Amino acid sequence: MEQLRRLLRERPPMARELPVFDPAAAPPDPASLHVEWLLGAMAAEVPDAQVVAVSTVGEDHHPDARMLVLRDIDVAHGAWSFQADARSPKGRQLAAAPWAALTSYWPALGRQIRLRGPVEAVGLERAVPEVRGLSPAAHVAALVGRQSLPLSGPAEFERAWDAAAALRERDPATAAPGHTRYSVLAEEVEFWQGDQHRRHVRLVYRRREDGGWHRGLLWP
Ligand SMILES: Cc1cc2nc3c(=O)[nH]c(=O)nc-3n(C[C@H](O)[C@H](O)[C@H](O)COP(=O)(O)O)c2cc1C
Repeated sequence: MEQLRRLLRERPPMARELPVFDPAAAPPDPASLHVEWLLGAMAAEVPDAQVVAVSTVGEDHHPDARMLVLRDIDVAHGAWSFQADARSPKGRQLAAAPWAALTSYWPALGRQIRLRGPVEAVGLERAVPEVRGLSPAAHVAALVGRQSLPLSGPAEFERAWDAAAALRERDPATAAPGHTRYSVLAEEVEFWQGDQHRRHVRLVYRRREDGGWHRGLLWP
């Protein structure tokens, strides 16, 4: 479509003033830098700054990805966690191939973070909702389950939602079947600071055998 092609040509990404990132001043581990950048994004009111793309390997060996909420960054262990239903496609994929890549991009700041590594799963279905960090609506959604299965229409969803909400009302600590915390023990983490003149800055951390981190720059 001509209009779209013209707009794509006329609107290059990152054509604005962006923050300066000095890799020489970065902390020795990537989790601390991610926390620093995430707190900065939240302070700058970046909407949904805690949402990341989680990429997995499908049961057909092809890549798959979707957005999920980042639940925690464990600085001591270099672990990034999110929660999901183990019975969903991503849960089944992670059971078969426990590796993931997480990617964030904050357009207002021109900052991308990528990391990848093996994944550890901990079942949280019996944990109380507060421990699982679930709001009432998220708890009901977890009880509805059946994520990514075909849905016949809105009425079927409404019935399942009402039944789950009633269940939660009777017992606010009702177990959420399949609810699982996944932690990515990053082996490689890259911080990318975009620049409006394409002089982008990239800093990569690689986990060393002794548990420390090697740091280095990459050509943009
Ligand atoms: C901003 C945003 C946040 C999301 N957060 C979650 C989440 O925390 N947990 C979740 O299971 N799905 C979340 N989703 C939906 C997923 O992207 C995905 O559609 C769903 O988990 C099914 O994925 P699957 O079929 O690969 O298992 C979110 C989607 C968006 C756009």
